[in-house]
Amino acid sequence: MKDTHTILNEIIVAAKECGQVMLQADRNNFGIKDKAGKANFVTAYDCKIQEMLQIRLSQILPEAEFLGEEEDCRIDRNAEYIFVVDPIDGTTNFIKDYHMSCVSVGLIRNGKRYLGVVHNPYLDETFSAISGEGAYMNGNAIHVSSDDLENSIVLFGSSPYNTELAKASFELAYEYFQKCLDIRRSGSAALDLCSIASGRAELYFELILSPWDFAAGALIVEEAGGIVTTVEGGALPCLEKSSVLARNK
Ligand code: IPD
Ligand code: CA
Ligand code: CA
Ligand code: CA
Repeated sequence: MKDTHTILNEIIVAAKECGQVMLQADRNNFGIKDKAGKANFVTAYDCKIQEMLQIRLSQILPEAEFLGEEEDCRIDRNAEYIFVVDPIDGTTNFIKDYHMSCVSVGLIRNGKRYLGVVHNPYLDETFSAISGEGAYMNGNAIHVSSDDLENSIVLFGSSPYNTELAKASFELAYEYFQKCLDIRRSGSAALDLCSIASGRAELYFELILSPWDFAAGALIVEEAGGIVTTVEGGALPCLEKSSVLARNK
């Protein structure tokens, strides 16, 4: 069995290769398809990158199960290792060339977040964490900020296809808006979590996310000294859909 740092470094190399595929994507051949609901897209690149990662990650850690957004994956949920992968987090941004998307790879070990990598190819920023060993961006340690709510940037997400939650999301954002410095909404949950981890923003919430949206980012926030729970303050699951609240303290 490889040591964890070797596994992490190999995942980073794979995520960066996927990032290159994003940067070099042929905008005339995106192969955009609709999924269920409003503005819920998948491109040929989401699928291609997921396939790349499935192959690469199975070489890095052959015994691990693989759960990714773009395919109905049957996994043994009791397996020791499970990769939880979002090939492109921020697909609408990717389609619009908005430069706010990333590759996200989380690794669950024995039911706990164990390792996470989020790579933003546009800024060449790679966020990573191993459980118990701190969080890093391009190899430098990162920490959540110590600003209070009054001096905070608050981030939130609300996918257009979750129409029943949109109003509540914007209402909650408005409540924060009245108390904080300002609000942002990026369109990439994984990058929002990394913004909390690196102290660029102080609080992030989204009322429903899938496990691949937060598998890597939640660990990176925790290892940067932040707190990640459900919006109600409960424990964040590893393999189920959940609301997410991430904050500096
Ligand atoms: C979406 C993004 C977005 C969030 C949505 C997610 P996708 O992921 O993370 O920020 O608001 O809930 O579904 O579909 O672009 O991978
Ligand atoms: Ca996502
Ligand atoms: Ca995605
Ligand atoms: Ca998606």
